[in-house]
Amino acid sequence: MRIAVYAGSFDPITNGHVDLMERAAKLFELCIVAVLVNVKKQSLFSAEERIDLIQQVTAHMPNIQVDQFPGLLVDYLKKKQAYVIVRGVRTLGDFEMEMQLAALNRALFSSAETIFLPTRPEYAHLSSSMIKEISGYGGDITGFVPRPVAKALAYKHKQNQ
Ligand code: PNS
Repeated sequence: MRIAVYAGSFDPITNGHVDLMERAAKLFELCIVAVLVNVKKQSLFSAEERIDLIQQVTAHMPNIQVDQFPGLLVDYLKKKQAYVIVRGVRTLGDFEMEMQLAALNRALFSSAETIFLPTRPEYAHLSSSMIKEISGYGGDITGFVPRPVAKALAYKHKQNQ
């Protein structure tokens, strides 16, 4: 089976991520969305919350599976017997960083192949961290994230006040 792994922090998932998932789901028989669980990295949403939001907004795509991984992405690939990593590229800066990441992953696991999908121009300005900042100051993020994510962000910021 042609399996792709789309790994990321997804803190939280944005419309740009959803678009990439929809496109990856058309290219591969199975697309595993793998949420990095990094105890050293502070996240706004817990792994469970991030997974729950991804599941809600990808429910219309039967060949998307949502999972989490705690360590190296290449170890997760080996565990799943997958060889393809999908990453979205928004800018030239992203591209440089992603080239480095792809080379490192390949050095660690020679079968690992990274596929870059260019972000659609309408989503190229989106990032989870900017969206968290805007919503934290009460800005309108409804055009940037799926509705359940906007609700979850509003609730989270209310709780943290
Ligand atoms: O959404 P992000 O934060 O850009 O995703 C980055 C991610 C999770 C893909 C990357 O940090 C990663 O693969 N982390 C797992 C640890 C790892 O494998 N590091 C080695 C490659 S440098």
